[in-house]
Amino acid sequence: MQLTNHLDHDYLRQALEHDVRTGLASTPKWLPPKWFYDAAGSDLFSQITRLPEYYPTRRELAILRERAADVAARCGADNLVELGSGTSEKTVLLLDALAPRTYTPVDVDAVTLGEAAERLTARYPGLVVEPVCADFEQHLALLPRTGRRMVAFLGGTIGNLAPAAREVFLKELRSTLRPGETLLLGADLVKDTGRLVAAYDDAAGVTAAFNRNVLRVIDRELDADFDPDAFDHVAIYDERHDWIEMRLRATRAMDVRVRALGLAVSFAAGEEMRTEISAKFTREGLTAELVAAGFTVDRWYTDPAGDFSLVLARV
Ligand code: SAH
Ligand code: TRP
Repeated sequence: MQLTNHLDHDYLRQALEHDVRTGLASTPKWLPPKWFYDAAGSDLFSQITRLPEYYPTRRELAILRERAADVAARCGADNLVELGSGTSEKTVLLLDALAPRTYTPVDVDAVTLGEAAERLTARYPGLVVEPVCADFEQHLALLPRTGRRMVAFLGGTIGNLAPAAREVFLKELRSTLRPGETLLLGADLVKDTGRLVAAYDDAAGVTAAFNRNVLRVIDRELDADFDPDAFDHVAIYDERHDWIEMRLRATRAMDVRVRALGLAVSFAAGEEMRTEISAKFTREGLTAELVAAGFTVDRWYTDPAGDFSLVLARV
């Protein structure tokens, strides 16, 4: 097994520096979500997937259990490419149904990616596992083109892209696919606001720790002195945009130094900084976005409660 890395240290460093500089100079301040996922962040996310309030993982698993055979029969893929694969826990259902020649997991977190690839290599002796450490917003054109591919993008991660970025992402993905290749997209659906908010503001405080982890990453990588405990986790549902917005709220006035950038940043007491959105979709809305990007929707699967959807789309 050979890990291809498009995110060398210099690249990551420059991207992080750029994002932190831009985000902290903006009003209101924001930080970009991909920096949640260092090894500690990925571990916290795994804990989130097992929380009673966090329904998306269980719902998506239920759909996969029910529908993986149908997906496999329809896509006829021999290379399963998975974007934002993380621990690849749900992927085994697709691998069992599809029995592809190659599995290509793609993630920004090299540690979690490498561990998942090792685990799957041991579990599926005949499978060629080709992990790629890359940013799916930057490196889609560099992904391997071996065989007939199905690109899986699970977990509702599509919702973490802002609408304009989502449009660009879907168009770029479409342009890298050849006729006969498919996209399997997991998307969380609009529902009761109370359940949505609870999924991003759990009683045990795991999501709060995950949210604050972005500050730990910046402290470590850019020699900053954020005090993560001085920020409260905030999750609100924005009904105008149909998205959950995650914020960090300064509990007191603070001056923070980001030494590697020669930056000093002031926070007022109560000031909120946006760290993440998680958009929720309707069938009509998501279908329209896929069609606008040049996909045809082949199948729309949901769980019995209608909480989550898996869309099989082709080019
Ligand atoms: N697919 C898994 C994990 C979802 S969490 C599941 O459904 O449970 C989102 C994953 O996407 C994390 O593993 C994170 O490291 C990865 N990720 C986030 N932004 C990314 C980006 N820009 N490029 C590649 N991977 C990214
Ligand atoms: N893709 C996941 C989602 O939007 C990521 C996620 C879950 C997340 N919980 C989070 C991101 C909390 C930031 C904070 O559901």
